[in-house]
Amino acid sequence: MIIVLFGKPGAGKGTQAPRLAELLGISTLATGDVLRAASQAGTALGREAKGYMDKGALVPDAVILGIVREALASPAYANGVILDGVVRTVPQAEGLRDALATLGRTVDAVLNFDVSNDEIVRRLSARLVCSACQTPYMSGSVGDACAKCGGKLVRRKDDEPAAIRHRLEVFEAQTAPVFEWYRAAGTRVATVDATGPVADVTVRALKALGR
Ligand code: AP5
Repeated sequence: MIIVLFGKPGAGKGTQAPRLAELLGISTLATGDVLRAASQAGTALGREAKGYMDKGALVPDAVILGIVREALASPAYANGVILDGVVRTVPQAEGLRDALATLGRTVDAVLNFDVSNDEIVRRLSARLVCSACQTPYMSGSVGDACAKCGGKLVRRKDDEPAAIRHRLEVFEAQTAPVFEWYRAAGTRVATVDATGPVADVTVRALKALGR
């Protein structure tokens, strides 16, 4: 089963992906996490991606499709995958379709996590992450110790107010059309209310998948 999680930055894709993956017995692939890990490790990919990510701009499609093609070829994804953060442009949707076709597979469903812009700004402005293990926190202060690994809590550069605004603009201009692209292609698409308790959102997402 191949499921695309779709939605504005901060809609809850990264929160829901591991929960759904565990319940469905499949893996997750989060392009943002892959890129942040590469950036932290200082690889060529990470250095290229960092400039885009810090501003809240999209990393070029060719880079993203390279990551996705490599991952899909891995046995870890043979049972299925929840894609978190990809697909974000129509060329990525086309590239993913072509990559899956070579494997005799297709996207089974696209879930659109629906949250207002006010709630997005509230969530992302409040978020801190551990600089070492990337665990997110909705409370605490910059510099506090991570409860999991003791690393320092920091604000993601793209969670600064100007970058949040830019990410929302980029979503409307480049990502929003992807949902209609999938609908037109005949893929199962569903919009899920992604507000309220995290567990309730998971239940709604499963229901949208017919589970
Ligand atoms: P990425 O890491 O994918 O960032 P994003 O989509 O902007 O995702 P976020 O992590 O901000 O939001 P989310 O929807 O995952 O929400 P989350 O669960 O974290 O990408 C970062 C950057 O990498 C991009 O800007 C781009 O530069 C690059 N990139 C990545 N993929 C790319 C691609 N395909 N093409 C081009 N460039 C790409 O939740 C957010 C917060 O809300 C958390 O603090 C969480 O605790 C909280 N929260 C979650 N659910 C709830 C709830 N129900 N109620 C209250 N709070 C909640």
